[in-house]
Amino acid sequence: MNKLGSHLAILFVLLFLSISSLKAQTSKEEIEKKIDALLASMTIEEKAGQMTQLTLDYVCQGKFFDDKKEMKIDPAKLDTALLKYHVGSILNTGSYALTRDNWYELIQKIQTVATQKTRLKIPVLYGIDAIHGANYTVGATLFPQELAQAATWNPSLIEQAGAVTAYEVRASAIPWNFSPVLDLGRQPLWARFFETFGEDPYLVSAMGEATIKGYQGKDISNPEKVAACLKHYMGYSASYSGKDRTPILLPERILREYYLLPFAKAVENGAMTVMVNSGEINGKPVHIDYHIITEILKQELKFDGFAVTDWEDIIFLTKRHRVAATYKEAIALAINAGIDMSMVPLEVDFTKLLIELVKEGKIPTSRMDDAVRRILRVKYRLGLFKQPYYEKASYKKFGSEEFKQINFQAAAEALTLLKNKDGLLPLAKSKKVLLTGAAANSLTPLNGAWTHTWQGLEPKYNPKDKQTVYQALQTKIGADHVVYVEGTTYDKDVNTAEAVKQAANVDYIIVCLAEKPGTEKDGDIHDLNLDRAQQDFVKALSKTGKPIFFVMAFDRPRLITEIEPLASGILMAYLPGNEGGRAIVDVLYGDVNPSGKLPFSYPKYPNALNTYDYKSTEDVSPGQYLGVDFLYPFGSGLSYTSFSYTDLQLSTEQLKGNDTLTVSIKITNSGSKEGKEVVQLYTRDEFASITPSVKRLKGFQKINLKAGESRVVQFKLHRKDLSFVDSNNQWITEPGDFTVLIDKLSKQFLLVD
Ligand code: BGC
Repeated sequence: MNKLGSHLAILFVLLFLSISSLKAQTSKEEIEKKIDALLASMTIEEKAGQMTQLTLDYVCQGKFFDDKKEMKIDPAKLDTALLKYHVGSILNTGSYALTRDNWYELIQKIQTVATQKTRLKIPVLYGIDAIHGANYTVGATLFPQELAQAATWNPSLIEQAGAVTAYEVRASAIPWNFSPVLDLGRQPLWARFFETFGEDPYLVSAMGEATIKGYQGKDISNPEKVAACLKHYMGYSASYSGKDRTPILLPERILREYYLLPFAKAVENGAMTVMVNSGEINGKPVHIDYHIITEILKQELKFDGFAVTDWEDIIFLTKRHRVAATYKEAIALAINAGIDMSMVPLEVDFTKLLIELVKEGKIPTSRMDDAVRRILRVKYRLGLFKQPYYEKASYKKFGSEEFKQINFQAAAEALTLLKNKDGLLPLAKSKKVLLTGAAANSLTPLNGAWTHTWQGLEPKYNPKDKQTVYQALQTKIGADHVVYVEGTTYDKDVNTAEAVKQAANVDYIIVCLAEKPGTEKDGDIHDLNLDRAQQDFVKALSKTGKPIFFVMAFDRPRLITEIEPLASGILMAYLPGNEGGRAIVDVLYGDVNPSGKLPFSYPKYPNALNTYDYKSTEDVSPGQYLGVDFLYPFGSGLSYTSFSYTDLQLSTEQLKGNDTLTVSIKITNSGSKEGKEVVQLYTRDEFASITPSVKRLKGFQKINLKAGESRVVQFKLHRKDLSFVDSNNQWITEPGDFTVLIDKLSKQFLLVD
């Protein structure tokens, strides 16, 4: 093409882009016009219905949460909900995962009443927890849980996983996913630690961004996309005791610098809905916190989607939080604070009382209109008015081989090798193995909670075509090379003596330690130590003198300090999902070179729960005084090859104004195997008016290098990357010395005004 031709081509592209963005713009405006018209014709009762979300059981036959019953719509109950109370949203699954046929049957009935029998024909917005894949649809692709996903440090892989989840949720006729969790995993005791992307706000933001891109794509009306729901806005994970829904003390400065960050990024990326934290911060339940919901989320971040409560959280304002004497008062407090939709979800008193409150002027009509506008906006943007669900047959890729490969890759890249004494791993396929432990022959501890059921504890729903570690091991090295003995359950001895006896005839012992799946209150623990029964079991096995390898299927970093010296190798598996069994065995035998890195700091002691970004005062004169001591640090993870870092260079020694500082570093695969490495860039503010952390993650890249191969990796840093929140709760930067740290190398530069 000549010069003129190429100029014309560029002009054409620019014109096309501006027309298409204009089109998107107009369609957003069109949506607002449609909402104006609809709102103008709605009664208070209809508006209150839009703000009401009920659980599926409410419109189904039989008792609530009966896992023996078949989920069938009760037409009379459905009519009551949709025609009498004008309910706009339904959630959940009853008690167990349903087939796609079930889902289509249910949703079809619901949407038929909504879009044909109601006066205004507003579709229902159906929501579900599909938090590691479409976990409430039989046959779906069940990915590693978020914590494991974060351990991949591979956002593009996680975006693909998100896209598969969106596809399979939509293939279940559902357009709204209560995911991702963007809470920070900084309290290792926290009951829902495994649902987070780990402890660091930068990593969590990056993984959150990838997931949202996967879920929502560029246009959520695409039949393969779903609306995301950011949870649990915000600070939920920071409870003092680590128990679910217990008090949180957080100064706003910390809230903004750490906990808000991933939500802010996600809102910037167009996330459509937000679920509010069920807990209290500084004595105020977040559900009645106007500052957090309205001022920060809606005004400051300009969030134009809607905020839904968590389960029964308005009623809990009276029953648990005790900030309101009556349900009616609680509703007024929550809605006036900025709640748009209530996950009621077991009754319609909410709806009736909301109507009364608006009629009495205790909730302004403008507030109700704003809430309904936000909800309708999401319904329009999802395209539900045009088509509330798409043909079941059009989702041909549901549960496909292609999706399985992505899932396997995610599990394989998550697994984190923490110890490899004397390089005994990978294991030789010709040797005999004793395989034992609570996670050795079950998919249940590999998937964790939110798997087929809420707590994920029903093995009867586990798919037959997915391999446990035991099955994968037999496939890998032949059944005659594997002796399997259960050993223990999560907390009880089963047959230690038998395991010890069998160990005499093998070369290695692989013990799959496990945490009993659980979430929310069921995930609470008093003690971070791994259950005594499993620790005693390892001690008994160690007496045999055979090399022991731990595989750890844990929800959180359960303490293993006492038994760690007994292991020759340790593989952190997190909750690796349905392909976890295969991936674990592939790593143990070297068919996959491990590349996962810890997304949290693995503690050594029960009462020394630091994060990697601790303050200097926490580690004064190491060796002389007690300081920070991790079992395994944040970002660590071994490989079967080695990487060397050289030539750290900064493009300038002084960073001014809006300039860019380019950091470059050379990484060489100095071992003899191809492998992936996560290059992590940290910065340290040497002196600041608010005590600085010893380091903060500001960039990472996962690269693949063949044996002997080198690559130069670059990062860009800007002034804003060096900012922090000051005592006035404002983001600021202060001129002065900063250090860039990558691996063991570091270099200083000066930030000037
Ligand atoms: C959980 C949420 C979940 C909701 C709906 C709540 O109890 O805290 O994470 O999305 O239930 O199932």
